Amino acid sequence: MIQLIQGDITKAHVDAIVNAANSGLLGGGGVDGAIHKAAGSSLLEACRQLPKRNGVRCETGQAKITHAGDLSAKFVIHTVGPIYSSCANPVELLRSCYINSLNLAIENDCQSIAFPAVSCGVYGYPLQEAADIALDVCNSTPFIVLDIQFYLYDKKTLLIWQQAFEALG
Ligand code: APR
Repeated sequence: MIQLIQGDITKAHVDAIVNAANSGLLGGGGVDGAIHKAAGSSLLEACRQLPKRNGVRCETGQAKITHAGDLSAKFVIHTVGPIYSSCANPVELLRSCYINSLNLAIENDCQSIAFPAVSCGVYGYPLQEAADIALDVCNSTPFIVLDIQFYLYDKKTLLIWQQAFEALG
């Protein structure tokens, strides 16, 4: 089931909350900042424990899972979206963010997961295209068995996600 909610993802009551992170996984602004603030310092500590190579803990399009610190969720799944203006293949990379996050949720026996609009803030992904990609992946087998919640932070983003959801038929 897919639900579209306008609000702060740190308030989501799900098994896994997805973070729109950067490759260093050491926090940032936007939803990354909100999740780390709400989760507390133990989340940052868990991220620091993840292996890194040349400062990279998570490649663009990939996803890593940690505990959720003080958040009500069991896990935080950190995914790194494409920076739209500087990626040769943003569609493929954004799709991978959703696919890899959903696979990690299934592998960790999650029944429910909350996504923000990955890459649609600082990383500049056009909302309509991002919504189509996100919903196409989430509406496909085997992911449709999960309770998937999109937490859209503003009305404009919610409306675009709603239009894309209705277009799924
Ligand atoms: N809950 C839900 N959505 C939120 C929240 C929140 N608390 N705060 C921001 N958002 C929304 C933004 O409005 C945007 O629609 O999340 C979407 C993603 O925006 P960003 O957080 O800027 O993420 P992204 O575009 O993927 O850029 C990632 O930003 O914060 C840094 O460390 C992060 O370097 C990374 C980059």
